[in-house]
Amino acid sequence: MTYEETARETVARLKRQEKVRILALETSCDETAAAVVENGRTIVSNVVFSQIDLHALYGGVVPEIASRAHVEACDRVVDQAVKEAGMTLADVDAFAVTYGPGLVGALLTGVNCMKGLSYALGKPLIPVNHIEGHVSANYLTHSDLEPPFVCLVVSGGHSHLVQVTDYGEYRLLGQTMDDAAGEAFDKAARVLCLPYPGGPRIDALAEEGDPHYLTLPHPHPDGRYDYSFSGLKTAFLNAAHKMEQKGEELPKADMAASFRYAVVSALVEKAVLAAKETGAKCLAMAGGVSANRLLRRMMQQECDKAGIPLYMPKISLCTDNAAMIGSAAYYRMLRGEVADLSLNAQPSLRLV
Ligand code: KG4
Ligand code: ZN
Repeated sequence: MTYEETARETVARLKRQEKVRILALETSCDETAAAVVENGRTIVSNVVFSQIDLHALYGGVVPEIASRAHVEACDRVVDQAVKEAGMTLADVDAFAVTYGPGLVGALLTGVNCMKGLSYALGKPLIPVNHIEGHVSANYLTHSDLEPPFVCLVVSGGHSHLVQVTDYGEYRLLGQTMDDAAGEAFDKAARVLCLPYPGGPRIDALAEEGDPHYLTLPHPHPDGRYDYSFSGLKTAFLNAAHKMEQKGEELPKADMAASFRYAVVSALVEKAVLAAKETGAKCLAMAGGVSANRLLRRMMQQECDKAGIPLYMPKISLCTDNAAMIGSAAYYRMLRGEVADLSLNAQPSLRLV
């Protein structure tokens, strides 16, 4: 039997197996992460090696540095995840890897590492979309959450509103017309000279500031559930320039609070509107920006008002990790999806 035939046969067997433990690897951007997840719902181990210190000097992720660091860390992180799970590689039922979207070189290191392991051990490899991983972080946090639901996906590269109609099935409701929310936070942080990564810094600083200090425009893109953040960003930049030209010191906390309030209000407004108008049973959030403190508070308030149950991943599972990839992989595996050895990185892979 070829490797592919063995892998397909194993998946057919695993679909009926009571306990399936998947070892997942995530290398799409600047975290090298590996985790063991049982039945898509239980984290057995979860190791995240952050490269932040390597990129901080440059004010953002340097793709070449990221790829090299992934190559160096992959084996170590995988070994640690297996060890912390109290297992050996032989105990793993299947492997999973993020194959897109992300930085091509970074993705390739993970894909090749996992292709090698799967082939060497004769075990199936499940390819996972990184954004689906973010959505699945909710399954690790809330054992009762099942599709259908509406999900706001907000990360460094995405601001999407989707209907999750079933495991692995999505319908696009709306998306950003320009910048992603995380990207907007990162750019605003740069204007305030805050170090990379900017989103969490703006969030922390904003807690001390006045959200009504700056009056920023309320974006009005054409689509009912669409977003737009570039106008906000330009208005923010212009306000900062004006103050600098007048020789005024930037009131950083007030500016951070005003920017955060403007972005978060737009995110909450459209997400709750979409949930209401599509008759959603519940609303979920996913992606790095869903760690934002104001977003979590405001979304909870508005969902309570509207009587819509809200699901958010645990803060530690909002940003990139491999446990979420292991969860998504389990449901893909149940659909019989398995990679062959031609699996390649897809930097522009879409969810919908
Ligand atoms: O999901 P993620 O870890 O990586 C991508 O798949 O893009 O998201 C990273 C993004 C960055 O833009 C980061 O600044 C933003 O999420 N982020 C935040 C917060 N934590 C992370 N933005 C606002 N507030 C936060 N607390
Ligand atoms: Zn991510």
